[in-house]
Amino acid sequence: MEKLVVTGPTRLKGEVEISGAKNAAVAILPATLLINGTCTIENLPNISDIKISCEILEKLGAKITWHNKNCITIDTSHLTTTKAPMDLTSKFRASYYIIGAMLGRMGEIEVGMPGGCKLGARPIDQHIKGFELLGANVSVEKGKIYAKANKLQGTSIYMDIVSVGATINVMLSAVLAKGTTVIDNAAKEPHIVDVANFLNTMGADIRGAGTDVIKINGVEKLCGNATYSVVPDQIEAGTFMLAAVATKGDLLIKNCITKHLESTTAKILEVGGNVEDFGDAIRVWCDKKPCKANIKTLPYPGFPTDLQPQIGVVLSLANGTSIINESIWDSRFQYTEELNKMGAKITSHGKTAFFEGVDKLYGAPVCSSDLRAGAALVIAGTVAEGMTEIYNIEHIDRGYENIEEKFRNIGANIKRISE
Ligand code: EPZ
Repeated sequence: MEKLVVTGPTRLKGEVEISGAKNAAVAILPATLLINGTCTIENLPNISDIKISCEILEKLGAKITWHNKNCITIDTSHLTTTKAPMDLTSKFRASYYIIGAMLGRMGEIEVGMPGGCKLGARPIDQHIKGFELLGANVSVEKGKIYAKANKLQGTSIYMDIVSVGATINVMLSAVLAKGTTVIDNAAKEPHIVDVANFLNTMGADIRGAGTDVIKINGVEKLCGNATYSVVPDQIEAGTFMLAAVATKGDLLIKNCITKHLESTTAKILEVGGNVEDFGDAIRVWCDKKPCKANIKTLPYPGFPTDLQPQIGVVLSLANGTSIINESIWDSRFQYTEELNKMGAKITSHGKTAFFEGVDKLYGAPVCSSDLRAGAALVIAGTVAEGMTEIYNIEHIDRGYENIEEKFRNIGANIKRISE
């Protein structure tokens, strides 16, 4: 077992390079199953979710060549099975993208229910609704999903809920369907645009990604034979932006798309931080105690739920009482109990939490309940006086490339210890 040990307080200063987006990459890898040929993917984040995604693809028959830790060539010409390995798919959420991709390519898939962060109920009814409207038979039995279709037929699909996963999954299944599919009330996150750009680069015909109506004209085949670079991770960038504010630091965050960070920038300005926008880099600094602010998490372009715990650290140190309303997940305030162990004063009731700002946090042993909670605890440990030991860091490793090295390079006193 490994833990992170952070000794603070430290004001973070310097430059940090952002990796490729986890939530785009975990969809682009299954999307390669739609290609009858090879493609090269660059700027993959070196994280455990990507390694597991690659193992799943290999079990399905894909051949993968690693050029370096962030770049692979993948050959999906000869798939050998339609049964996905349950021991691997149960390890993370995005394994559900295998369903849309394999339905499109092979017309059949058997896969275990996806795993992933425990954030409350995570139904997949909208994914299933989309597959069925396209003509697939889908059944869920004893923790397994079976989906089968002779030929998927393009159709109109209205999403009852704005869902990132369902939008991408249905898009995957529609790429090789006959005719045109229209997804209404689609999610608009940058990673949806990135997956559509990837598929179009490989030969698909998808229009409107990034708006709430996506139109997919089915094509006969994706030939691939192209190189694609994954978009920078806006959540990793936002994590460092908020770390700069929480620690009263000064960071230049490089290799990001600042347009994707507008809601975070707006909130940082509201709490009294400073932001300088360079388009592909952003400088964030703060030299005073943050002011209180209220936040409601929303689908993009609203404030992202995946930065809610990180801004929670900022608000726990603010001047006055702030309120966060979490509108996406039922159970994303588990980290507040850990912050309270460090001296924060947070009370949560269902999907609302009240942050009474304190002057200081103090080091303590804490547990990371999920990926973003873990990132928030790393920020809290950097601000806190004394030593913070963070356990269950496998959650953090699922989504942040070299987190301790990146924090160390900007001044944090952080080390990974094996026990
Ligand atoms: C994606 O999860 C991300 N994961 C999550 O990031 C992120 O928190 C979430 O989008 C919201 O932005 C990946 O991209 C792999 P949703 P996803 O479908 O797709 C409800 C992280 O930390 N819903 O947009 O699973 C659902 O319960 C992770 O990187 C249904 O009711 O989220 C939720 O309330 C955690 N039925 C809301 O929609 C469905 O069929 C949004 O979920 C699907 C979803």
